[in-house]
This record gives sequence, C-alpha cells and structure tokens, in this order.
Amino acid sequence: MIKKIFNFVNSTLAESFFIKRCGAPLSIVFLYFLHRGRFLCKDYRFAVKKNYSILNKYRKESNKLDVTHDWFTHCIPYWVKTIEKYLKPYGNLNALEIGSFEGRSAHFLCWYSDKTNLICVDTWQGSDEHKGTDYVVAIEKRFDYNVREFRSRIKKFKGTSISYFLSVESQKSQYDFIYIDGSHQSDDVMIDAIICFKLLKVGGIMIFDDFLWKYYEYHKDNPCSAISAFLTLKKSELRIIHLGCQVHIQKTNNFCV
Ligand SMILES: C[S@@+](CC[C@H](N)C(=O)[O-])C[C@H]1O[C@@H](n2cnc3c(N)ncnc32)[C@H](O)[C@@H]1O
Repeated sequence: MIKKIFNFVNSTLAESFFIKRCGAPLSIVFLYFLHRGRFLCKDYRFAVKKNYSILNKYRKESNKLDVTHDWFTHCIPYWVKTIEKYLKPYGNLNALEIGSFEGRSAHFLCWYSDKTNLICVDTWQGSDEHKGTDYVVAIEKRFDYNVREFRSRIKKFKGTSISYFLSVESQKSQYDFIYIDGSHQSDDVMIDAIICFKLLKVGGIMIFDDFLWKYYEYHKDNPCSAISAFLTLKKSELRIIHLGCQVHIQKTNNFCV
C-alpha cells in the first residue's frame, strides 16, 4: 500500500514537472493535480470501474481485428464515462477522427454506438514515431479490413488534417464528437485543436490523445505544450472534463465573453 502511494505521488510529481517544462501555465499544472487526485476518491474510482464491463466486452470483440498496436483500449472506461454523461442523451453522434491508424478507435466508436457516423482522416503513412518501421506499409489495408462492418457509417479522407480542413465546405460547427490523434508534433496539434474546435458543436466533446507523451527532444515540440496553450487560450469557451494521459473537453459556447 505504502509503495503504491509512493509511486502515485512520484509519477504525479514527475508528470507535473513535465507539463510545466512544456510551457503550461501553473493553472494547468494545478488542474492536473486536482484531476489526478480524483483517483483517491472512492466514488470516482467506482464511476470509472463500472465501465470495465464494456471494456471487457470490447476486448473480446476486438480480438478479431488485424492490429499491430493498441494505444487505445485502456482509455475506454474514460471515453464511456464522458460519452454517457455528455453525448448519449442526444442520440446521433456526428464524429470526426484525426489519425485513425489501423482503425481501432474508429472501430470502437462505431461498435459502441450504432448512431455514430464517422469521418476518419489519415495519411495512412504513419507519424514521425512510425518512420522506418515495417508495419507502416500495411496500415491502410488493415484499417479497411478492421472497419469493414461499419463501412456504411465511416467515410475515409486520405490526406493530412490540414488538407481535410481546406476541403471542408463550411467551417461551421457540425460535429458532436472529435478525436485528435494525428501528428503529435505540437504545431500540428495546435492547428488541429483550433480548427477542430471551430467544427465542434456547442455541447460537443473533443478528446486529445497523448497529453503526457514525451517523444520529441525539445519539450515544446510535444503535444502537451500545444494542448496546454489551447486550453489556456480557449478557457472561457470550454469545460475540462478529464485531464490525464488524454484530455476531454466540452465546448460550452462559441465566443469569448
Ligand atoms: C497514433 S496513430 C492513431 C491511432 C488511432 N487513433 C488508434 O487509436 O488506433 C496516429 C495516426 O495519425 C496519422 N497522421 C500523422 N500525421 C498526420 C496528419 N498530419 N494528418 C492526418 N493524419 C496524420 C498517422 O498516419 C497515424 O496513422
């Protein structure tokens, strides 16, 4: 038990220092502390654990996928908690995903809600961290295979997120749910964040992956610096629902007041 508490405090402190080094203001670091602290609360742990039944059901379902990596499944209890509370009551889910890779998160979203219509944007060429790996060549083929049962509800856009944004006819708010998991270079994350937020309906949910991911040598090149800057810039237009390895936000209004 003491070892568990020690590890918890230790990792929370290390992550907080990382967030600060990425240029986040103290308000974000403090908020991260508060969100981590929720794990000490029995009711919060219960609310997350109650979604383990969906996680386990999905684990069985996803056995049939042709995948090389799983960066997603552990996030399911948190996704379900957010979607159930903020989106389920509204029925249809008009969704956008930036970065689909082999289709695991897209497959989950369509499996979880049969009211989901999803646009998947990806170059299917991999990101910086995938360069030179042997699985990159077959990513798109795997994606097509994995989401085949949901093809009537999934549309593919092959290209960078920027080329997708340029192709969108109207920049009006149209999505209930957006998942940002494409390029993890902070400039790209910032562009994805700003434009996706424009495309998100008021009341809609946006999730960022890899808030705590340390890949680039310079701290400010990592997603954390872009996500923190975005949260600070748009703080009067959003609510932070979850701040951990992933960040969940809800758009609360369209303009700063
Ligand atoms: C971490 S993977 C996505 C994982 C996926 N969401 C899942 O949970 O299985 C990142 C993906 O983003 C794609 N990507 C990288 N840069 C991109 C860009 N500028 N625009 C669109 N997609 C990009 C890569 O090809 C890769 O498939």
